[in-house]
Amino acid sequence: MSRVRFRPARASAAAAPVGTAGEDAVELTRGQNRAVRRRSLALLGSLLRPRRARFLFTITLVVLSQAARVAGPAVIAFGIDHALPALQSGARLPLLGAGAAYLTAAVLAGVLTAGYVAATAALSQAMLLDLRLRVFRHTQRLSLEFHEKYTSGRIISRQTSDLEALRELLDSGISSLASGAMYMLFTAVSIFLLDWQTGLLLLAAFVPMYLLTRWYQKRSAIAYRGQRVASAALIVHFIETMTGIRAVKAFRREHANAERNDELTEDYRLATMRSINLNGVFQPGLVLIGNVMVAVVLLAGGFRVLDGGLEVGALLALLLYSKRFFQPVDQMAMFYNSFQSASAALEKVSGLLEEVPTVRPPKHPVQLPHAAGEVRFDGVEFRYGDGPVVLPRMDLHVPAGQTVALVGATGAGKSTLAKLIARFYDPSEGAVQLDGVDLRSLAQQDLRRAVVMVTQEAFLFSGSVADNIALGRPGASREEIVRAAQAVGAHGFIEALPEGYDTDVNKRGGRVSAGQRQLISFARAFLADPAVLILDEATSSLDIPSERQVQQGLQTLLGNRTALIIAHRLSTVEIADRVLVLDGGRVVEDGAPADLIRGEGRYAALQAAWQDSLV
Ligand SMILES: Nc1ncnc2c1ncn2[C@@H]1O[C@H](COP(=O)(O)OP(=O)(O)OP(=O)(O)O)[C@@H](O)[C@H]1O
Ligand SMILES: [Mg+2]
Repeated sequence: MSRVRFRPARASAAAAPVGTAGEDAVELTRGQNRAVRRRSLALLGSLLRPRRARFLFTITLVVLSQAARVAGPAVIAFGIDHALPALQSGARLPLLGAGAAYLTAAVLAGVLTAGYVAATAALSQAMLLDLRLRVFRHTQRLSLEFHEKYTSGRIISRQTSDLEALRELLDSGISSLASGAMYMLFTAVSIFLLDWQTGLLLLAAFVPMYLLTRWYQKRSAIAYRGQRVASAALIVHFIETMTGIRAVKAFRREHANAERNDELTEDYRLATMRSINLNGVFQPGLVLIGNVMVAVVLLAGGFRVLDGGLEVGALLALLLYSKRFFQPVDQMAMFYNSFQSASAALEKVSGLLEEVPTVRPPKHPVQLPHAAGEVRFDGVEFRYGDGPVVLPRMDLHVPAGQTVALVGATGAGKSTLAKLIARFYDPSEGAVQLDGVDLRSLAQQDLRRAVVMVTQEAFLFSGSVADNIALGRPGASREEIVRAAQAVGAHGFIEALPEGYDTDVNKRGGRVSAGQRQLISFARAFLADPAVLILDEATSSLDIPSERQVQQGLQTLLGNRTALIIAHRLSTVEIADRVLVLDGGRVVEDGAPADLIRGEGRYAALQAAWQDSLV
């Protein structure tokens, strides 16, 4: 009963990390390679260490279960060669004993195998749970700087396909390797103990088996890699098409995309076929070696039984052992594949976990529960990573309660300045202060409470409209939520939604327009009631006809807190106490809007151009 199972070498598309097609493929030096390996092992160790006892328990179960499995044929040999002759001379005990021993071994093997499968699952799931939580928490904690350079496709594949590859290894790979190796070891020992000549035959059979396995490993590593690359390319193309579906439709890319998809799918089909075909040779090859071995043992052993050099029972046991000896090889060769993809995954996940946030929480946080909202830039210079200087040395003082409008051309550095106040980044030189406290030493909670930034994207999370507003202040009552919406002029349209405040924003009918999204995020900010409010193009999607209403809502939102408004529409700027004109990261004009309009500077020119555009 040969087991020929054609298992595709991990054909699931999910097992192929998105982004392997280039992004992660960086040539490493030898030293770096060693460091990467050390990092991976350290991660594995840190997952295993708290579960040492359980690990040892699992390994013990594996060893015992395999010993029980191997005991069967030896008991049969004893039964035939010793218990049967004893029975002929009237002693029934040996045969009863042999039967009982066989039964015990069989039951033990079953129970122990069930035990180690359960123990392995518990162990691997505990490790994976730990890892999943770590990856999520860590990725979320990393600074914006990291998220801007690490594409979301890569992060997604860390959390999905990489963890999946590790799951395969931990769930089945390691235990099948361990049980396979133990099984072969015990079987080989039993064969040698029964009859060393057959042991030598077994050693001889190792040669073709080794050659076949090496052949398979080499080919399958190539085929498997090809399969992963093909599936990664397929997934990347799919994600790109579907996330950019609007542009696809707008520019009628459907046909071209479909053709590209056809090609990629065909590549993937071929690559998968190739690896399946390898298994189609390898697995029957192993079975064949096992069966040839059986024939040789039968021939050689048969003659020796005739000579009296070997007993019949021993021969039967040897035949059973020979036939089953090579069975685990196929699983172990599979292990090689899952090991390769899992170690690649481990390298990437450990690399992600090694990233440190560039914006770190303070060691000795300064509490500022009731910030007044005075903002100061003290000799601030800023560059993104090691890029060019975006803000060259800036000194700026915004007294508490002032409404400042930031204007300037695209790329002037307006958003950058805003992000520094919200501490999405730390300045490369100098310091940004809130009420005289360096943001780097301000307690994170207090910073988040004091500074709120509303951006153009106005992201809504899944949940109801009310949930989304309540994000501003978790635990806010329905009255407070409604009052916030009323204050910014969002109440009207929310009431008109199918289920009012309880409308799910992701459901049909709950889908709100870009402008409505911005109003919801205003309400959210109003509820948060920060000392410093930053609006970065946050009014860009609000329509001109409702401008009066928007202006009113905005006035209420600003109240008497410190505010920084970045807007292309100059009517929004008019409500400011002060205008800063930014150019190439420098403040080139600074004054009250009325004063600047009267002057000859850029703001006056901008204002004039804007007035012209309105008529
Ligand atoms: N994440 C980033 N990494 C590297 N460089 C960046 C990053 N964000 C912005 N920059 C660069 O910093 C400069 C200022 O960008 P910023 O976003 O502050 O401009 P902006 O004034 O807000 O422009 P816009 O009006 O178009 O929003 C630009 O030259 C831009 O290329
Ligand atoms: Mg900007």
